[in-house]
Amino acid sequence: MVAAQARAQWQSRTGFVLAALGAAIGLGNIWRFSFVVGDNGGGAFLIVYLVTIALVGLPLLLAELAVGRATQREAASAFRALGRSRLWRQAGVLGVVVSFAILTYYAVIAGWALKHFAAFAGGLYPLQPGRAADYFQAFVAAPFEPVVWQALIMAASIGIVLGGIERGIERASKVLMPVLAAIVIGLAVHSLVLPGAVRGLAFLFVPDWSVLARPGVYLAALGQAFFSLGLAMGVLVTYGSYLPAHFRLPAIGLAVTVGDTLIALLAAIIIFPAVFSFGMQPDQGPGLAFITLPEIFADMAGGWLVGTAFFGLLVIAAVTSSVALLEIPAAYAIERWGMARRRAALTVGTAAFLLGVPSSLGFGPLAATGLAGMTILDIVDFVASNVLLPLSGLAIALFVGWHWPARDAVAAAGLGGMLARLWRMSLRYLAPAVIAVIFLRSLSLI
Ligand code: TRP
Repeated sequence: MVAAQARAQWQSRTGFVLAALGAAIGLGNIWRFSFVVGDNGGGAFLIVYLVTIALVGLPLLLAELAVGRATQREAASAFRALGRSRLWRQAGVLGVVVSFAILTYYAVIAGWALKHFAAFAGGLYPLQPGRAADYFQAFVAAPFEPVVWQALIMAASIGIVLGGIERGIERASKVLMPVLAAIVIGLAVHSLVLPGAVRGLAFLFVPDWSVLARPGVYLAALGQAFFSLGLAMGVLVTYGSYLPAHFRLPAIGLAVTVGDTLIALLAAIIIFPAVFSFGMQPDQGPGLAFITLPEIFADMAGGWLVGTAFFGLLVIAAVTSSVALLEIPAAYAIERWGMARRRAALTVGTAAFLLGVPSSLGFGPLAATGLAGMTILDIVDFVASNVLLPLSGLAIALFVGWHWPARDAVAAAGLGGMLARLWRMSLRYLAPAVIAVIFLRSLSLI
């Protein structure tokens, strides 16, 4: 193992929080959150989501940070170092696999965002009513162009990961995250003054309790919480492993959780008032950001500027996340295979790009290759997010809750008293039970 000498560390607490927020805040907060909220009926779903974040998300996030900081190793090696039996030592491997799998198609969707940003910024987007759906379909079905945008996203991510922890990831996050926050706030204010904005706010914040009778709502909330916080993929273990010993984890964990949730809420405040103000439907699935919104921008005064800002936001959010998704397997290659950082970033990034190409082509030349109405991208996402991810989350919760000696775990997390007890209860009982039930349901096994 080559990890021993002078391991990289974050330069400051703010730097770390911004980098972790960069990982957490991504397509998930804007593109995915908004369509999941839209499809699940709005306000009542939001409450289920917030409760899930508080009871399951935050405890798991803190558990991952604690494992990373206590071991100072990348995700797979961290569990290997703490595990006391063969099986437990493997608890971190799935996370590394899932992050790599997600990276392959994450860059594809990030590429779509980059394409839309370029088209809006360059004034090339057809800003006339009724054009957005065809524009999007024609773009994703093209054999070549989406792959080029996907490659650009991957190249940017490789470039940042090459630079290392402080000079690459931390520095990029310190520049990009404030820009992201400024765009989010600007766009939210803009949406709030649209005529009829209140109807969008009512959809978001006035719960329609009947929604709670649908079992799918709970599944969607848990899946979204995991995806948005980047749980069970090793990112917080890996990022936590570059934390100096004197930073207090609970405060940092809380800052990341609250920041991620706040940006998702603000993204919804950008999107739903506009959707209702322009008389659109909120439950349009993944097309919400790429078809419904451009349709609205076409109708709106100054729409090209709002569209440019919106897709710029999406690109920034996506790049800081794909950087993290790449850092996890790259750190694995560095520490386990002894690769130099430069080589690791290039090799892993190129592999993820190549394996992502079929996901991209699945909307065009390979459209016939899907299964049961799912595209290749949907299938990779389903296996990674609905099968491997819950298993990995379950393994981490059980590991920290049951296998890691309580005293060590609580000390590593920096918790005491009542909070320590609540944390352990969540990891021992609540999180595993919730994950198990939802997992089995999502595979229709119960
Ligand atoms: N959280 C990211 C988002 O909201 C996506 C994501 C999931 C991620 N797992 C991750 C990012 C792991 C970095 C690392 O879009």
